Amino acid sequence: MEIKLVKWSEDLKGDLINLCNKADRSFLSGRMPYPYTEEAADWWLGMVSEHDGKDGLFRAIVVDGKVAGNISVEQKADVYCRDGEIGYLLLTDFWSKGIMTVAVRQICEAAFAELDIIRITGLVYAPNTASQRVLERNGFVKEGLQKNAVYKDGRIYDLCLYGKIK
Ligand SMILES: CC(C)(COP(=O)(O)OP(=O)(O)OC[C@H]1O[C@@H](n2cnc3c(N)ncnc32)[C@H](O)[C@@H]1OP(=O)(O)O)[C@@H](O)C(=O)NCCC(=O)NCCS
Repeated sequence: MEIKLVKWSEDLKGDLINLCNKADRSFLSGRMPYPYTEEAADWWLGMVSEHDGKDGLFRAIVVDGKVAGNISVEQKADVYCRDGEIGYLLLTDFWSKGIMTVAVRQICEAAFAELDIIRITGLVYAPNTASQRVLERNGFVKEGLQKNAVYKDGRIYDLCLYGKIK
């Protein structure tokens, strides 16, 4: 299985729309619009071309030539500016094959090499054990737990704080 991270570009717009409409959003923030329209994709592609390589890395996860997911590290602002927050999602057909474990390794290497950051933060809802394993397999350390920090779809979740130091 070949797992590559590819910069989002106009020619992947259809894949981006498909991915964001089909993604399991149970443990994602409400930031990603639904339904995910062409306008939403145009906004995302514009944002990527403005920020990628400067204060963020935004990549499609391509598995054996097919777009399977999205992964990013976004540099924070103000006094948190040497920290980057990681985010990722994978289409359900590709789950439990070790793909995200590899993708996180690749983006952390690239982010520490290309961005002016000294740590990467991961924020994971407590029931999302798969995502926590992905981070732990990549050397992230659980630094804390924010009780009742997330309210989503009528449910309240604790939020796990993970960190990886350069
Ligand atoms: C969370 C997610 C990224 C995991 O990606 P993945 O490629 O399936 O994960 P991997 O196959 O690399 O598995 C990593 C670990 O999680 C475990 N795992 C995988 N699916 C699991 C599940 N449904 N429940 C519990 N553990 C699971 C694997 O066994 C593996 O652990 P191990 O190394 O001890 O064997 C994927 O399920 C996803 O995209 N979910 C929806 C979006 C999301 O939650 N994003 C993260 C927000 S913080």
